[in-house]
Amino acid sequence: MIIAIDGTLASGKGTIAKRLSGWYGLPHMDTGRLYRATGVAAMNKNTDFDDPAALAKVARTLDLNDYSEDQLRTAEAGQAASKVAAVPEVRAALLELQRAFAHQPKGAVLDGRDIGTVVCPDADVKLWVDASVEVRAERRWKELHDKGETLSLDEMIAQLKERDERDKTRKDAPMIAAVDSVLIDTTHLTIDAAVDKARAAVDAVIAQSSEGSGS
Ligand code: C5P
Repeated sequence: MIIAIDGTLASGKGTIAKRLSGWYGLPHMDTGRLYRATGVAAMNKNTDFDDPAALAKVARTLDLNDYSEDQLRTAEAGQAASKVAAVPEVRAALLELQRAFAHQPKGAVLDGRDIGTVVCPDADVKLWVDASVEVRAERRWKELHDKGETLSLDEMIAQLKERDERDKTRKDAPMIAAVDSVLIDTTHLTIDAAVDKARAAVDAVIAQSSEGSGS
């Protein structure tokens, strides 16, 4: 079973993905890490962000073990990620890796921006996770503040809006809900309540397919 989880930054999609992965015993890929690592690697190597071929080479030769979670979760890494993610050559370089991960024998859970639309349009379950920009900014701001970043909440809201806009308007694989996705708005939900909704959507698909197979 392939579960595709897309949505906006700090909507809760990563936590939902991890919890579904544990519950259903499926491997999980956080595809944002691929773009974050590409962005950080490009910055470290002083790669020209206007050179698609050079950025694609960085993506193709990426070793995720080179980067700690802390390095990848900074606001700067997020901004760099959304810039390299707008480059079609980078997306192409990362596509097969994601598809191969999804098509393991048991299936997988992948979260990102274009899993249900581009990476796995054939996914068994598609979720679209979103929340208001103010609530998302506050969540991410708290997370970064606890790690010692000194960004203000207003700056965080501005950054989120900028990134949402870039992700939504890029030509290649823009961030958009797949037409057959189930919406989970986490603005007023606890994470447990959001996970319950996600599980209900997956269980409905499992029940349907076992009815269909006559078992
Ligand atoms: O989810 P996360 O915030 O880690 O993603 C960082 C950036 O990577 C996003 O803002 C987006 O530009 C890009 N991304 C993408 N497609 C994905 C996953 C992430 O374009 N499947």
